[in-house]
Formats: sequence, structure tokens, C-alpha cells
Amino acid sequence: MAIRANPNNRKGNLMAPLSNLATRDVETLVHPYTNLASFRDTGPLIIERGQGVYVYDTEGKPYIEGMAGLWCTALGYGNEELVEAAATQMRKLSFAHLFTGKSHDPAIELGEKLKEIAPVPISKVFFCNSGSEANDTQVKLVWYLNNALGRPQKKKIISRMKAYHGVTIVAASLTGLPGNHRDFDLPLPGFLHAACPHHYRFAQDGESEEQFATRLAEELDALIVKEGPDTVAAFIAEPVMGAGGVIVPPATYFEKIMPVCAKHDVFMITDEVICGFGRLGTMFGCQKLGYRPHAISIAKMMSSAYLPIAAVMIPESMYQALLTESKKIGVFGHGFTYGGHPVSAAVALKAIEIYARDRIIEKAAERGSQFQARLKALNAHPLVGEARGLGLIGGVELVADKRTKRSFAAQYAVGAKAVAFAEAEGLIVRSVLGDVLTLSPPLVISAAEVDDLFDRLARALDKTLDWVTRERLAQS
Ligand SMILES: Cc1ncc(COP(=O)(O)O)c(C=O)c1O
Repeated sequence: MAIRANPNNRKGNLMAPLSNLATRDVETLVHPYTNLASFRDTGPLIIERGQGVYVYDTEGKPYIEGMAGLWCTALGYGNEELVEAAATQMRKLSFAHLFTGKSHDPAIELGEKLKEIAPVPISKVFFCNSGSEANDTQVKLVWYLNNALGRPQKKKIISRMKAYHGVTIVAASLTGLPGNHRDFDLPLPGFLHAACPHHYRFAQDGESEEQFATRLAEELDALIVKEGPDTVAAFIAEPVMGAGGVIVPPATYFEKIMPVCAKHDVFMITDEVICGFGRLGTMFGCQKLGYRPHAISIAKMMSSAYLPIAAVMIPESMYQALLTESKKIGVFGHGFTYGGHPVSAAVALKAIEIYARDRIIEKAAERGSQFQARLKALNAHPLVGEARGLGLIGGVELVADKRTKRSFAAQYAVGAKAVAFAEAEGLIVRSVLGDVLTLSPPLVISAAEVDDLFDRLARALDKTLDWVTRERLAQS
């Protein structure tokens, strides 16, 4: 049996042995987004089952899933209708693909439904299995589009610092986080990152949100001009940045950014992988923030994460380009074996039916007001530099000095410590770069559960503050 020798281990117990299952995990799996070295001491938190907004570990301890898994389990756990939809489809047709002109009912129906609910006119839908695949596909389609239009030099893609668009080689190049680039030899050439629209961190002294937004739009314009507008193909943005630390853009941001894209004929892609299907209280995040993209990436809550499915929503102009290239080349040479998998498609259809029938998104908008009130109240906590969010998403940035906004030294891993204290309180949250705790509960969370979530988080923050004070971490 392995020994957890690290005093920061999950139970805070210096010599607690890892369970048999935990030992097998440590000896078998490489975990994404994990410090693989310290993980050998702490071991995993093994989740066994889920019901409603709760998940349960192997010892039966319940946790509020404050992150809806990874921003995705909108309808919570144990939804029998989704289980039935999967089982029924699996019995009828467990697999079929869309290659070489073949098709099946669930993919056709889901494509139609997505076109019906799209926030802008959409011509066609291309199915993938993950957000990364959707964003990789977006870039390939934009390149294809500009080749079809006879402008092969218009290929650069602009994303933003702290954006998160996934981890495949192109998606990771779009992502604007150092941990996704460093020593992976990324980003690829031709992927540029505009400034991060985070007022708290990057506005100049005395600059209002609107003034900050104006400056960001001017900087984007200058970047495109410097690179050469005939070389810049697309701009991609999340409505609210998620994994970069839940960053809500300043007022008027998209209002000012969109004309810059239009002026330079830059294709605009909205990455709705987190915000799509109700996270901000509207079906799509771009509706909440008031902009009209050309193309849309969706995943996660499309199926409430009961099965993997993602898609690219394609406008008519781009579809015409695909036709042109298909005529020229003889084939549209792109596709994933499991893209539009019938079982995943059937589950997504059922999830979208439930969102409409049970008014899940309207209710999430109402619940969002309570959630934001509790979230913003955390701004009074001595450790919190900024508590921010929109709808049912929130970020809590921990700082060493509230007045100067000084962060803690990264090696203290204060965010990770707060996550561990929250876990002890029976609450799952995540810590991302810069000690930002992220919150994104299932959309079906009740009013009482929202209060419970924030009560637990407040206790975890108090314990983190005690620890920071004891260890004198705020001083250095
Ligand atoms: C906005 C956004 N885009 C893309 C992705 C990548 O999705 P996946 O992990 O399914 O590849 C994520 C994942 O969290 C995301 O938040």
C-alpha cells in the first residue's frame, strides 16, 4: 500500500495510506491538468456516483459539484430521461457514421434542431466529439474558405491572452495560457493573441470599462493593420472566458470589437463550448453579450455531458466555400469516426428538449441573480481581490494584498489549498492560473443549494485565510 507522505494530502493526514483503488490509479493513469509529481503523494479524489447536483466519493461522502464536472453537467446527475434516450438509441442503432454520404436519423434531427435554435442564420452543422475538435475544425474551415475565395495568404487567426479553446495542436495554439504552450513548442506560427479583456487586471488607472473596451478595440485594429489585413483570417472569442479565470469582458467590448473584424473582413467565431445552452441565462452566450458571430463552436452542455458530442455551426457563405473546394478536390477531407454518434445525438436531442420543456434556461437566469449576489458578497472577504461572473458562472480571484491587487507567489499554490479546504467542506471547485477559484454549478441547482454552496465556500475561504496568516504567505 502506498503512503501519502505529503502534508498537503487530500485528507490533511500526514501518513494516510492510499486506498487500493487510489494506488492503482497512481500507478496506471496520467491525469490531465494535474501536477503529476505532487499527485503521487496526494492521490486522486475518486468519485463513484452522482445524483442531482451531488457527487459521492468511494467513502460515500457527498460533494456539491460546484463545477458541473467541467462546466458541463447542466441537468445534474442521474437524469433518467437522458439515460433512457441513450439506452433506447443504443438498442436501435448503436453506431452509424456520417462518412461517404451515409447518415442516420438522430444526427439529422439534431442538426435541424441546432439550426432552429441558432442565434444567427446557420446553413449546416458539422459534428465532432470535443470542444478542441470543434475549434480545430473551425480553423481548417476558415483556411479552406480563404483558399476557395482565392486569397491563400489570408490565414492568420487572432485569439486572446487567457483564452481557452482546447488542447489539440491548433486549439492549444488558440488557447492563450502559458501552461498549454510551454515545452509543447506552441503556439504554431500564424496564431496571434490580442490583449485579455480583464478590467480588474489590465485596465489603466482611472480607465472606465467603456474606455478600456475602446482601447482594446483600437489595439485589435492596430494588430490587424500591423500584420496586414489580407493575412488575417479570423478572430475567435469565448463570450465569457472560462478556464482563463472567468473573465467577463468590459461593457461595450463586443460592440466595439465586432466592427473592427467587419472592417478587415475577419471571420468571427464564437466559442460557446462553456456558455452555450444556458450558462449565462440565454441559450447562447453571444446573445447575452449582444454580438452576432459568423460561426459557432458548441459542446459540453449540448448533451449535459451524458455523452461526448460537439459541433461547428456553419454559415451559408462558408458552406458555399466547402462546395467549391469539394468540386475542385473531389472530397471534403475532414471528419471524425464518432462525429454525430447516434447515441450521443439522441442524448443531445433529449437534453435540448428538456431545456425547452422545463424552462431550464429561464430558470437558470433567475437563479443566476441569486448566485451573482452571493458571489459578489465574497468581495468583502480579506483574501478576495475580485469575485466576478455572469449568470451561473463565477470566478473568485485570491490575492495577497487587496489594495495593490498583488497575487500570491505561485509556489504557495494558494488556490489549490483553497480547493482542498472546499473539498473537506464537501464542495468541488477548481483553481486556475492566478489562484482563481471557478464556479459553474449544474443549471438545475436549487436556491437552497446555491446558498449551501456559498456557505461551504465561505468556510473554505476562512480556513484558507487562517492558513495563509499562519504561514505568513501574504508578506512575501
Ligand atoms: C471555451 C472552451 N473551448 C474549448 C474547450 C475544449 O473542449 P474539450 O476539452 O472538449 O476539447 C473548452 C474546455 O473546457 C472550453 O472551455
